[in-house]
Amino acid sequence: MKRCIGLFDSGSGGLSVLREVVKLLPDARYIYYADNAYCPYGNKSRDYIVERSKAVTEHLLHQGVEVIVIACNTATAAAVKELRATYDIPFVGMEPAVKPAAALTRSGVAGVLATASTLGAEKYRTTKSYYEGGCRIVEHVGKGFVELVEAGILDGPEAEATVRASLEPLLAEGADVIVLGCTHYPFLLPLMQRIAGPGVTFIDPAPAVARQVVRVLGEKIPGRTAGNHSIDIQLEASGELGPLTRIYGLVAG
Ligand code: DGL
Repeated sequence: MKRCIGLFDSGSGGLSVLREVVKLLPDARYIYYADNAYCPYGNKSRDYIVERSKAVTEHLLHQGVEVIVIACNTATAAAVKELRATYDIPFVGMEPAVKPAAALTRSGVAGVLATASTLGAEKYRTTKSYYEGGCRIVEHVGKGFVELVEAGILDGPEAEATVRASLEPLLAEGADVIVLGCTHYPFLLPLMQRIAGPGVTFIDPAPAVARQVVRVLGEKIPGRTAGNHSIDIQLEASGELGPLTRIYGLVAG
């Protein structure tokens, strides 16, 4: 019997997490739910995000998933506690990768790009306060990033201007390591890397989250990662499927 893994995000961003999970568990069955009729989550209240996360969780539970990956930093920060307290199923959430960033910075300044909701959440503030003794942590909302990715605009003048407006303030502070604290942002990584130059390292927490999914399922982390050509995946959305399949095309290669 195939393992059945559910993932959700406010939109297509969580596909950057799915991409990493399938490399480690290529034989599982996946249900990916984009709550894109309610996207973005990042500027909504905590109660709103908790309510949406519960609705999506119940939808996934009805389909028999055995673990749910909250492939969204914003939903994790707002709702993971409540989801774990409410439902009898393991949840794997996104971690703000402040720890590896603090360990890696040579300039002594680590940057975090995330949504306003994530940056304001207790989960992030607590993590930050734990690591900011060893380095300075500066942050910025990736303003308009989610909208770009949902529209499939990953490069070009509009994307570049939008990305520069949020990235350059972190570079100006001297950040040489930048955490991608929203699952949509890795789709803009080639553009961000070009703007920041080779001296800046970006950290995507998705590979670490994928390893956690393997551990939670009691499987072994494979020595060699698999390609994702023939994965068994069902894409679902509360809104239109178009934006999701467009980004999925990139993930699936
Ligand atoms: N992809 C999301 C995250 O990781 C949410 C973006 C949004 O809906 O604002 O935070």
